[in-house]
Amino acid sequence: MKTYHLNGHAGAGRLVRTDLIKPEPASGEVRMRVEAASLNYRDLLILDRAGQGGFDGRVPLSDGAGVVDAVGSDVVRWRPGDRVAASFFRDWISGPFKSSYIPSSLGGSTMDGMLAEYVVLPATALVSVPDHLTSIEAATLPCAGVTAWHGLITRGGMGKSATLLVQGTGGVALFGLQFAAALGARAIVISSSDEKLACAQALGASILINYRDTPDWDVAVMKATDGEGASHVLELGGPGTYDRSLRSVASAGKIVQIGVLTGFGPKPDLARLQWENADIIGVTVGSVEHFTAMTRFLSEHAIHPVVDRVYDFDDVPEAYAQLRSGSHVGKIVVRL
Ligand SMILES: NC(=O)c1ccc[n+]([C@@H]2O[C@H](COP(=O)([O-])OP(=O)(O)OC[C@H]3O[C@@H](n4cnc5c(N)ncnc54)[C@H](OP(=O)(O)O)[C@@H]3O)[C@@H](O)[C@H]2O)c1
Repeated sequence: MKTYHLNGHAGAGRLVRTDLIKPEPASGEVRMRVEAASLNYRDLLILDRAGQGGFDGRVPLSDGAGVVDAVGSDVVRWRPGDRVAASFFRDWISGPFKSSYIPSSLGGSTMDGMLAEYVVLPATALVSVPDHLTSIEAATLPCAGVTAWHGLITRGGMGKSATLLVQGTGGVALFGLQFAAALGARAIVISSSDEKLACAQALGASILINYRDTPDWDVAVMKATDGEGASHVLELGGPGTYDRSLRSVASAGKIVQIGVLTGFGPKPDLARLQWENADIIGVTVGSVEHFTAMTRFLSEHAIHPVVDRVYDFDDVPEAYAQLRSGSHVGKIVVRL
């Protein structure tokens, strides 16, 4: 089967095309024929770290969708032909997060990912793909979709009366926006580009702020909400955005802390949290249970993820390059 693996010594690309033997499912496992895999910002961080060692030999990308191709003994839940996607953490099935789940993240330092024609996973790590979605669309769900769902809906309790603030127009941001729009909530989007803001408006955002033209976007958020602020903030930037997120959050609001787009380790002044009785919710993607709940919502509201561009398998390096350029709106997908 065709696949890519990471190799820190393989020049600037650090991605090597390889042919491997198709894996066989053992008892309790399923072999999935991957039809599409999607890229996340995390995959850029991993590609860059591959240059420092640690990920060499690993198949990248956490997110993929396709069809069950073979099942091992004792598997009753799935049959060949079932349409499935893999959950980000192989071992986080349900219940609260445990740090012991971290090594089971697909496409990380200890587990191979989805950029291969076939993958074998435990039957418990798969989720049914909603009927209304293609495999290309379903491949966008495991990391970006589940992260936004877990943070905003499961933990954040976002509902119709919410005002959501999202940062940028990338994968996680647009899932948050689409969930808010489906619920009938108000959505604010900040972006580097007026063109991208027009896409966000078409998806249901009603307050649009270009953060290049308006670097004090927190002031603009407050003005546009009559001084109330956002009940839910999808915090994707990190050190470069955190203080403004804190100044944008409404009384009793929630900041869902997710991203590192401007780096790691924000050092925010948290005093405003106590004045506003607001909360921070830290999120690391989510479980199979979160993923399954999200697919029900997607079906109910006929939501189609926003796919910016689909690349062929031979063009994976170009897909990474586009993600790095930040020119995309929504998700970048590879067709296998
Ligand atoms: N904690 C978790 O479990 C988890 C899960 C998924 C993702 N993440 C993190 O969440 C972040 C987003 O991930 P993603 O995959 O959705 O990324 P992505 O698709 O690559 O999104 C990138 C977009 O973010 C926007 N952006 C960049 N810098 C910004 C800034 N300073 N202020 C506001 N917007 C900015 C830009 O959109 P515009 O051009 O429109 O401004 C850019 O195109 C990343 O840091 C990722 O590592 C964390």
